[in-house]
Amino acid sequence: MKKINKISNSLKKNLRKEYYRLDGLKLKNNELKFKAQKLINEIGFCVIDNVITGNLDKYVNEIEKANFKIKANTELFKKLIKKGLSEESLLNHPILEVRKSKFRSRKSKLVNDIFWMPKFSKKLGDKRITDIIKFILDDHVRIGQLHSKIGINQNINSRKNKITNDKFGLPRVKSGDLNSREWHTDWPHDPWAYSKNRSENIGCVKEPFPDLTMGLVVIHYLTDPKDVGGTWVVPASHKSGFSPRHGKISISLPLKNEHQVKAKAGSVFLQDTRLWHSSPVLSNSIAKRVTIVSRWYPWWLELDDYAPDSRFNIVARPLSLKDIKKLPKNLKSYFIHLCFEKKEYINRKLILRTKSFLKKSIKLLR
Ligand SMILES: [Fe+2]
Repeated sequence: MKKINKISNSLKKNLRKEYYRLDGLKLKNNELKFKAQKLINEIGFCVIDNVITGNLDKYVNEIEKANFKIKANTELFKKLIKKGLSEESLLNHPILEVRKSKFRSRKSKLVNDIFWMPKFSKKLGDKRITDIIKFILDDHVRIGQLHSKIGINQNINSRKNKITNDKFGLPRVKSGDLNSREWHTDWPHDPWAYSKNRSENIGCVKEPFPDLTMGLVVIHYLTDPKDVGGTWVVPASHKSGFSPRHGKISISLPLKNEHQVKAKAGSVFLQDTRLWHSSPVLSNSIAKRVTIVSRWYPWWLELDDYAPDSRFNIVARPLSLKDIKKLPKNLKSYFIHLCFEKKEYINRKLILRTKSFLKKSIKLLR
């Protein structure tokens, strides 16, 4: 826990100067990836500014509409399951959007949320960001989870944190004041991951965590976080080896070395899944906070082996081949693992790597 309690004065100064913000327009891809890797290794996060430029309203509108459609689709799915509709009827329903799982033994699941966001999907595969992700994780990466997060908090004046259980039976901060936090790490390090029930729990890495980046959380800020507050982080906490949800600290109170991330609309926040972080309780009930959270993992991490009965969680929501074909070219490879109609092979870069090592080793054979 040493890293949590103590950070150097020079790091404090650098954080005040927002040295973790890299300009996506000024820096070349190569510079961006080296600088981002250094920051993520040292403090667990960085921000790439100016990834999406111009008027962002079209994305905000699309995501707000998508959110509404996702909720309606989820409710319809619940209703039809309750009615006892067969798998065939669910899959062929005229309005419902569910897809076959790539596992034959599993029932259909809600379609991946990217299906509802064709405009935003053109921005998700931006090479400046995917170059960084691949540089840190490996050349073959996959998006394991994706969802929008739209926050308008109207309970800001609550004097005390109000904590209620979510739909998976886990305690969550429902309302509070500006000092309310909800510290956690993300999957695969989050020890709650995401339920106390076996049928929904997707497992977690044993503590102390190995010093290895196993996943990157990518948050696209579509509204300006300066109006409503950026993500709270504890810089360098990814090196502590522990999660704040290990039962030794209060996860709802501010921490000594916390920092609120500064970014602007169109910026992208990247974070090691081990980093202690929390969404802000929003300071303005009129301002909106619209973000898309995607979680990226290397080829070697099994994303969807557990919670096999879940049809509603956000883990590896499937896509059909028709859906994949509609995605922008630069995004398809990151979603192909979710499609039951498509085989996924180790990508070309990894194969070339294999070949090159093989060639070099053969030369040395005696
Ligand atoms: Fe998180």
